[in-house]
Amino acid sequence: MSAIPSVIGTRQPNSLLVFAKSSIGRKWIVGGSGALLVLFLLAHLAGNLTIYIGSHGEGINVYAQTLHTSALFLWGARLGLLLVFVVHIGTALSLAVENRRARPVRAAKNAHLQSTVFARTMVLSGLVVLCFVVLHVAQFALGFNGYAQLLDAEGRHDVAAMIIKSFQNPFLSGIYFLALLLLGMHLSHGIQSVFQTFGLNGRKTAEILKRGALVVS
Ligand code: HEM
Repeated sequence: MSAIPSVIGTRQPNSLLVFAKSSIGRKWIVGGSGALLVLFLLAHLAGNLTIYIGSHGEGINVYAQTLHTSALFLWGARLGLLLVFVVHIGTALSLAVENRRARPVRAAKNAHLQSTVFARTMVLSGLVVLCFVVLHVAQFALGFNGYAQLLDAEGRHDVAAMIIKSFQNPFLSGIYFLALLLLGMHLSHGIQSVFQTFGLNGRKTAEILKRGALVVS
């Protein structure tokens, strides 16, 4: 009688987990989470633009009040966003460390010739944006800005006045200017990479994609 190898008692590795840990799987995770962060930024931008509604920017006060109506929705969205940030940064850093370890010095030098400055500074720009987000959340979401107690004529939190008065500080405006410039660089390369990761770019669409990414950034 031939001996049949027994699989009873041995655990099969979960194929989804194996894929998620692989290099390409982690690229998908970075791309997918990055795409969600871009969607957040577009929604955040749309919300911030409501400051142009009303003679004193009351639009953004109404918008902020609406956002804060349901604590469940607000905290659900905040925790979801935090999770996406952590997954994006953690996975991107693990890929960057692995790439650096695997790449010989000579190959790295040659790669520099083909890649753009935006691509080469992804880790740096990402880390600067992370520091900016920590500062920004402390300043506007947690209210460490000196103007968080202001109320408008309707008794709402005066978000418009808080933003305008905060940006009258040239030092703070300078920090925002630099951080947003780096964010633009990060997004410009990141958006193009997402399309490449998911195989959605082609030779004909490369130029359109490049310009589109720059415009969105
Ligand atoms: C000049 C541009 C920006 C302005 C005027 C602005 C304004 C604000 C304001 C007023 C809040 C508080 C919302 C509230 O709690 O009611 C906020 C929250 C936040 N912003 Fe921005 N923002 C800007 C750019 C950005 C950028 C570029 C990012 C990300 C890279 C970002 C990420 C966030 C995050 C994560 C929160 C916390 C969301 C929350 O928990 O409520 N913001 N922003």
